[in-house]
Amino acid sequence: MVLLAAAATVLFLLLVALPAARSDPYSRSTLQLAGSAENGGQLFLINCAGCHGISGQGLVGPNLHGVKARKNDRQLIQQVVSGQTPPMPRFQPEPQAMADLLAYLHTLS
Ligand code: HEC
Repeated sequence: MVLLAAAATVLFLLLVALPAARSDPYSRSTLQLAGSAENGGQLFLINCAGCHGISGQGLVGPNLHGVKARKNDRQLIQQVVSGQTPPMPRFQPEPQAMADLLAYLHTLS
């Protein structure tokens, strides 16, 4: 009985909990791509600078300098695609565009 419960727990972890924690397919494909900070900077100017300032210095949205110390890449992706922190909208960039944005955010030290 105890063994059965243990086996069920292991199965649950292997099949459900761990894959979910690892990451969603979108983040995974984004993180496999090499981003271009230059393209990311262009995307930032068009989509993000209105709130975060032309050089990410903060305006309506917070200052993004040093943001990579506060949020890891998966959290940054979630921030951009989730729409969970209004007024920041929910963006749906292609994985390559998201990789470029990440590369740009990494330059904001
Ligand atoms: C309409 C305004 C608006 C736009 C446009 C916007 N943001 Fe935001 N952003 C915010 C606000 C407000 C917050 C703070 C949300 C909170 O935590 O409550 C935020 C938070 C963030 C954070 C987290 C900052 C931290 O210190 O943890 C990141 C990273 C970020 N935005 C990146 C982006 C990127 C990249 C874009 C463009 C693709 C973008 N934002 C576009 C308003 C905006």
